[in-house]
Amino acid sequence: MENKPSPLFAQIIIEWYQRHKRALPWRDTTDPYLIWLSEVILQQTRVAQGLPYFQRFAETYPTVQHLATAPQDEVLRLWQGLGYYSRARNMHHTAQQIVQEYGGEFPDRYEELLKLRGVGCYTAAAIASFAFREKVAVLDGNVFRVLARVFGLSDDIAAPASRKVFQQLANELIPADAPDIFNQAIMEFGAIQCTPVMPDCLFCPLQQSCFAFMHGMVQELPVKSKAKAARPRFFHYIVFVHEGEYYMRKRLGGDIWEGLYDFYLHESDSKVLDTVTLLKELNGAGIPVRETHLLPPRKEYKHVLSHQKITARFYLIQLDFRLKEEVLQEARLAPYSSEKIEALPKPILIDSYLKDEKILLNL
Ligand code: ADE
Repeated sequence: MENKPSPLFAQIIIEWYQRHKRALPWRDTTDPYLIWLSEVILQQTRVAQGLPYFQRFAETYPTVQHLATAPQDEVLRLWQGLGYYSRARNMHHTAQQIVQEYGGEFPDRYEELLKLRGVGCYTAAAIASFAFREKVAVLDGNVFRVLARVFGLSDDIAAPASRKVFQQLANELIPADAPDIFNQAIMEFGAIQCTPVMPDCLFCPLQQSCFAFMHGMVQELPVKSKAKAARPRFFHYIVFVHEGEYYMRKRLGGDIWEGLYDFYLHESDSKVLDTVTLLKELNGAGIPVRETHLLPPRKEYKHVLSHQKITARFYLIQLDFRLKEEVLQEARLAPYSSEKIEALPKPILIDSYLKDEKILLNL
């Protein structure tokens, strides 16, 4: 570390915060449930995108009991579009655990909070400090950036081992009499003032004590090694439709989008469909269709996840017969009308296709 921690840092950051903070609904509460909800939503999500989701969740499920008793499909449907769906599944599970094992009351200490599913160091520190004023520093991307620049830390923030260094520094900086305000302040400072590109150094209250500014290293800090290239995957969706009903299935665990609904999926290592292989597969599964039944796709859909790059094409097959019950069971497919599909939680890729094809209205 190139700069020494001093109590002035907290004072300057907090003063800046009082002047510049945005009015955000989760800052007006000490209800640990609402704070937890907001923090789970805001992980990997910008405030502008997360805000309407927070409002919908807080309105639909005003207490942890409401969330605990909601059906999973409904929770995932409300989450649709936020991505990282395991966050929603874990949140739902944790709500049930809070009700069943904690009598509906959130644990009020950092170490206890850490035991909840889906609650890591960041979320536990956020809830413990915002709701219970425990002196424990949050570390998120914003905090890493601010600390790396101001104190001249060149540890790779993508390396798990660096966490210790930053946590220790943040724990030295956080004041005992305002841990909640300090945590909000440093995150807000990173989000608004000390931004990843084009930080506002000219009007920065830390300018003269910032290592990166004083050494012309604002562009170089923080150091973050590049993630591995995303794995390409090619999805060929077969959309069976019969008498206005579309055959969909709920995705299982062990892959992306667990609990969301999509269509019969033929995955291959090419964006071009091998129809011979597909037809063999379908006929083998007891679905007697021929090549002439396959309507060629109109367009290609792409979806980038953190470690995967999905390219999808959709092939409509209009069936003039009903698929046998045992065939549907084996393929885990079931027929859904447009209205029913509307209420199902779906990957955005599927939702976009359904809207393009006017199967769902573009509301
Ligand atoms: N991002 C994550 N948590 C946040 C919070 N409490 N306020 C603003 N942005 C955030």
